[in-house]
Amino acid sequence: MSLGANAAATGPEASVKRPIVIAHRGASGYLPEHTLEAKALAYAMRPDYIEQDLVLSKDDRLIVMHDIHLDYTTDVASVFPERARTDGHYYTIDFTLEELKRLRVSEAFVTGVDGASAKYPNRFPLWKSHFQLSTLEEELELIQGLNRTLGYDVGIYPEIKKPWFHHREGKDITALALAKLKQFGYSGRDQKIYLQCFDAEELQRIRRELMPQLDMDLALVQLIADTEWGEKQIESDGELSNYNYDWMLEPGGIERIAGYADGIGPWFGMLAPIEEGQLQITDLVQRAHRQHLQVHPYTFRADPDQIPAEIGSFEQLLHIAVQRIGVDGLFTDHPDKALAYISRMTEPETKHSGSPAQVPLDNEQVTGP
Ligand code: G3P
Ligand code: CA
Repeated sequence: MSLGANAAATGPEASVKRPIVIAHRGASGYLPEHTLEAKALAYAMRPDYIEQDLVLSKDDRLIVMHDIHLDYTTDVASVFPERARTDGHYYTIDFTLEELKRLRVSEAFVTGVDGASAKYPNRFPLWKSHFQLSTLEEELELIQGLNRTLGYDVGIYPEIKKPWFHHREGKDITALALAKLKQFGYSGRDQKIYLQCFDAEELQRIRRELMPQLDMDLALVQLIADTEWGEKQIESDGELSNYNYDWMLEPGGIERIAGYADGIGPWFGMLAPIEEGQLQITDLVQRAHRQHLQVHPYTFRADPDQIPAEIGSFEQLLHIAVQRIGVDGLFTDHPDKALAYISRMTEPETKHSGSPAQVPLDNEQVTGP
């Protein structure tokens, strides 16, 4: 594969900024996602930010977990076998915090005709050790406590999960999350936080209604999904259908997003699609930068089966993202590897702080003016 293909039209500047590293669901490449243990391990790697996906419990507690279902990381089917809904799923929102704390958390699994198997076969073994779900409060206490004891300044990167679903259940997860963040001191641009969501209307509500009401001003990131994933669903005539994300990538979409957000979080495949076996590079980063939007793509995974053959290695994936495309940050399950790459990329005297520093590319990689 030629890494030079398509670089000329959309290639990087002669220098790149050090991107921020966001520990995606903690150090989730090494320990079960979103457990406090995975967050503590991530912290020890010194990422710039640690991510929290948020859903609500029945008693309105903010639970740090990726799905609105408990099915794929807990033993809920054994502990509460009668509590599945008619669609077969166990919903976090149907359980109190006390009930959720009775569940064991495992590395993610998929259930098939032969039973459960690991979603990522080379990661932490299923059902080993003892892990629990945790609340946002517990996680913020952990991160803020470590910031105090170790003296670092690791930020947080919470995501409001599926506000449309929570609204349908009669709950305002976003208002609850903002109030909790403010309670923990995250209210303005001087705190190290980005707030992310896949829901454009909810982000506009945060920007125009909720934050002014709460005297808050956080940096907001519009996550961009493929419509087919069903990240957001809308109801019409009693039927749910997938919200159409196409406008975000079409002409004028980025300009609209810049009206309420400070950054975008696209799937990496939207920046560098592979078409007919060739890596292409889109102009999405350039278009976003023209609107002063930061670009933090997801998700960088070092597992061997997660690297497209056309890219070859995690190092090469990072090289494309950071030095060819010029992303401002990246979500990764393997923050240690991303930080090691960036450390090698930057000059020796560049301090490893949360603030991106201007660093040169080596001569071979410079394609800018
Ligand atoms: O929030 C960035 C990235 O995490 C989005 O994907 O599905 O892992 O939340 P997801
Ligand atoms: Ca997320």
